[in-house]
Amino acid sequence: MSDDTGELEARLTEQDEFAPPESFVEQANVSDESIYERFEEDWPDCWDNAADLLDWTSDYETTLDDSNPPFYEWFTGGELNASQNCIDRHLDERGEEVAIEWVGELGETRQYTYSELHREVNEFAATLKELGVEADEIVTLYMPMIPELPIAMLACARIGAPHSVVFAGFSADALSTRMNSADSEYLITCDGYYRRGDALEHKEKADEGVAGVDHDVTGIVVDRLGEEYDHSMRERDHDYDELVAEQEGATVEPVDRDAEDMLFLMYTSGTTGKPKGVKHTTGGYLAWVTWTANSVLDIKPEDTYWCSADIGWITGHSYIVYGPLALGTTSVMYEGTPDYPEKDRIWEIVEEYDVTQLYTAPTAIRAFMKWGAKYPDAHDLSSLRLLGTVGEPINPRAWKWYYTHIGNEECPVVDTWWQTETGGMMVTTLPGVGNMKPGSAGPPLPGLDAQLLDGAGEPVDNGQAGYLTIQKPWPGMLRTLYQNDERFVEEYWSEYSDTESDDPDDWVYFPEDGAKIDDDGYITVLGRVDDVINVSGHRLGTMEIESAIVGVEGVAEAAVVGGYHEVKGESVYAYVITEDGYEEGEDLRDAIVAGVEEAIGPIARPEEVVFTPELPKTRSGKIMRRLLEDIANDEQLGTTSTLRNPDVVSDIQQKATDN
Ligand code: WT7
Repeated sequence: MSDDTGELEARLTEQDEFAPPESFVEQANVSDESIYERFEEDWPDCWDNAADLLDWTSDYETTLDDSNPPFYEWFTGGELNASQNCIDRHLDERGEEVAIEWVGELGETRQYTYSELHREVNEFAATLKELGVEADEIVTLYMPMIPELPIAMLACARIGAPHSVVFAGFSADALSTRMNSADSEYLITCDGYYRRGDALEHKEKADEGVAGVDHDVTGIVVDRLGEEYDHSMRERDHDYDELVAEQEGATVEPVDRDAEDMLFLMYTSGTTGKPKGVKHTTGGYLAWVTWTANSVLDIKPEDTYWCSADIGWITGHSYIVYGPLALGTTSVMYEGTPDYPEKDRIWEIVEEYDVTQLYTAPTAIRAFMKWGAKYPDAHDLSSLRLLGTVGEPINPRAWKWYYTHIGNEECPVVDTWWQTETGGMMVTTLPGVGNMKPGSAGPPLPGLDAQLLDGAGEPVDNGQAGYLTIQKPWPGMLRTLYQNDERFVEEYWSEYSDTESDDPDDWVYFPEDGAKIDDDGYITVLGRVDDVINVSGHRLGTMEIESAIVGVEGVAEAAVVGGYHEVKGESVYAYVITEDGYEEGEDLRDAIVAGVEEAIGPIARPEEVVFTPELPKTRSGKIMRRLLEDIANDEQLGTTSTLRNPDVVSDIQQKATDN
């Protein structure tokens, strides 16, 4: 940026609405604002527009079957295969174009053209079949950001075996819980990976996880570290390269899958301690991510598009793998961290590969801001055409910094609100259509009906905070929680629905977020209203963390809340009561941190551990998390009059300040 940055920033601070750049609108995939009206009039058939972006081997009969709410079915009777849609159908025209542009942390790169990806996926699909994997058997993938991860996902899709990807940063315990819950008998993992230049082992963690699985497991191990790390192979394990070599040149016909057949499971955190297995389908999910990748991310086949998320989370599933590849574009996949070897790594990659769209998280943007504009300024970022954010609210200052310093005021910024459960984007501006308002995600996408309600189910006035609800089904929605229809209804549909009714109009989806809406219908998402916290865009259940902490010797009781964090958005604050005879202090604090890392993973590590003699409780014995949040955030305390033990609050406050 030039010397007049200060002046520019002063001007931008005042501005709270930005029109999409003319140059962008002219070439946008969607630029006709009548789309909102057309979709509303034509609902639910408007979603044929999404299905039409896919290749179907059998046409569907019905767009939406809503005869048994909330168990909606989309594109019923249709058949397709996700791997065929993401690979085979591009071979004729784009076989020699790059599908996956992989950038390793240490500077190595691997490119897979669509033809090469086709070969790799076929050979691995043949490998899985040879091992005995059958359609509908759930395969667990516990891998970091290496090309074998999307290859394995697509190979599973090819043979009709749903995958369940477990984020590599999750602990051994988290792996066992997920494999047990899904009855998954196959595990694909690797020896280790690199983080900030160091080799990290992964296989031992995977072994420890398998030790906690209550059935037999067959393993396939990718050798990522080579000589660097001599990993152990167990009786159950097979070497990835060896197995694939035996299948050299093999092809596997993509199996026809019913639109409603499960494409994958993705576990996510909820209010209770047990992670929820979110079930996504082949037809509806794929149509949804493809349609949104086209209309919101504006992806075209000739683009080099980059989503910096990890494939272990839903963002990576939808917008590194399925959406972009279904559109036949080049998807960048980066193994490492944004500040290694230097704080300009992201910008170096954008410049080197002429990245056209960048989709990242507010946490990353706040970190870039902190590091300073000199890092992006040192690179030519003029290839960028669109910027996106996802995962947590973005504060207007970070939004404007992104818009100015990265986008040079020439790229629209889409702030996309959605969830693991929604499959893909739900609330965001269409970049070629609507004005942007920093800090506000925007209106619901065309064909979606989002409303803000109060606790009694009445609509709230514009400008007031309320609960975000989705009033109509959409193709990308989760179909159920794995083998737990009851919990599915309970978690998402009980709050605002008439659960006795067969009329779909009486069923309302509740995502557990609070929000505000303005006179233009723009929605500002405020955050979760349940016991879920959002650390760097990663969703963590406070109950899961609490149960890890009370498992530590010497801990009697614990309460976990999210406290404000400048970069991460929220961080984990733990309030802990020790057992009689145990001493508060560094040793116990270290044990607590280690206990959480072991049970969940380093992302859930408490930022603060506050020892307290008591926790604020209501007369009925419920912990008042709201008050603890206020303490964590150093805010004016809410009412304490309903507390059984009002004095405890000032004690804890004192302790928190002493920390
Ligand atoms: C929760 C979902 C969306 C994929 C990654 C996270 C929060 C997500 C935004 C946004 C404000 C957001 C919500 C939501 N969230 N996007 N643009 N603005 N908040 O998926 O792990 O399922 O978490 O992330 O609170 O409920 P997830």
